[in-house]
Amino acid sequence: MIPPHGGKLLDCTVSGAEREKLAQDADRMPQIPLTQRELADLEMIACGAMSPLKGFMTEADYRSVVDTMRLTNGLVWSIPVVFSAKTKEQQGLKPGAQVALVDDAGHALAVMALESRYEVDPDYEAQMVLRTTDDGHPGVQYLKSISPVYLGGDIRLIRHPEHRDFARYRLEPKETRVLFDAKGWKRIAAFQTRNPIHRAHEYLQKCVMEFTDGLLIHPLVGETKGDDIPADVRMRCYEALLEKYYQRDRVVLSVFPAAMRYGGPREAIFHALVRKNYGCTHFIVGRDHAGVGDYYGTYDAHTIFGEFEPEEIDITPLFFDHAFYCKRCGNMATAKTCPHDKEDHVFLSGRKVRQMLLEGKMPPPEFTRPEVAEILGESARKGQ
Ligand code: ADX
Repeated sequence: MIPPHGGKLLDCTVSGAEREKLAQDADRMPQIPLTQRELADLEMIACGAMSPLKGFMTEADYRSVVDTMRLTNGLVWSIPVVFSAKTKEQQGLKPGAQVALVDDAGHALAVMALESRYEVDPDYEAQMVLRTTDDGHPGVQYLKSISPVYLGGDIRLIRHPEHRDFARYRLEPKETRVLFDAKGWKRIAAFQTRNPIHRAHEYLQKCVMEFTDGLLIHPLVGETKGDDIPADVRMRCYEALLEKYYQRDRVVLSVFPAAMRYGGPREAIFHALVRKNYGCTHFIVGRDHAGVGDYYGTYDAHTIFGEFEPEEIDITPLFFDHAFYCKRCGNMATAKTCPHDKEDHVFLSGRKVRQMLLEGKMPPPEFTRPEVAEILGESARKGQ
């Protein structure tokens, strides 16, 4: 099985007497609420999905990641994973303190041993990581909405974040690894997605299924921007399609708890490294991966992989050109395989599809399978 990033799958949860003691101590510590993104990051750090991270980044790692896409130990890591101090008091905390990280209900989920407190320039981070400082970019909006004072240090999880949704689809890296092993899969491709499945997604997935042992469909269910389709609707679309159109034995559907950063190329590297931790050997990267608006070039998320030696990333990226249905070919294709003009290609933007659904029109079957269009239409009409 492919080794996790950094060689070891970390587990930052504590149990038994240690957990009891820490949970009691946590009540007396400064309590700092987690944003939705921080909560998702905490969950992923704790279960090893973010290995080799053992906590939220210290100043040294943060600056190294922002400037060089590497942790201070030299390992590739492309995006900051940080925790913000919310109040003046929290901003005054000193390294050496222990703090409790709490959810919306006020439950202490983890304890962080504060190692580093530092102030950042959000514009600089945005420019370096997201390649823009434009307020129209949802990742920039997030950065500007949180305090620029960050707290870093190792975490210990004392209580699992509560989830009412997708219980049977929540698999931690150690669980997907056991599952892949039990299935005897050696070559496993991961598919990241934040949108409802359409024919181009299906095409990419099935091309890859032809030469791998199995596919991990890993929809992101953490925070997304307001106009993205909600995760439960997307999952219903997947359930409907898997049932009718997939070789079920060769697919695992599981959710990816991360929040979306809309960081394009840098997020593609992150998405790949993290899927390696889940045990995947290959990672699908299509057009404008993790992009939003016109902030990134169509294939920026491909070229960024060239900035590293393949063995530093280790999971193999599988690059796909923009895929579409060609009426003259009578099948899905890309410019690599189809010789016909654009006029013969069926392509719809997400915005166009949303508009059609709201108007009660079905997107064409060449773009979206009717089963998916049905679910999306129903949810659009309910105003979800
Ligand atoms: S993403 O933010 O998770 O990248 P989305 O769910 O739309 O958004 O895409 C999932 C994956 O499919 C990404 O790798 C993306 O590049 C790829 N993709 C989406 N649409 C197409 C398309 N028409 N052609 C090729 N690749 C695509």
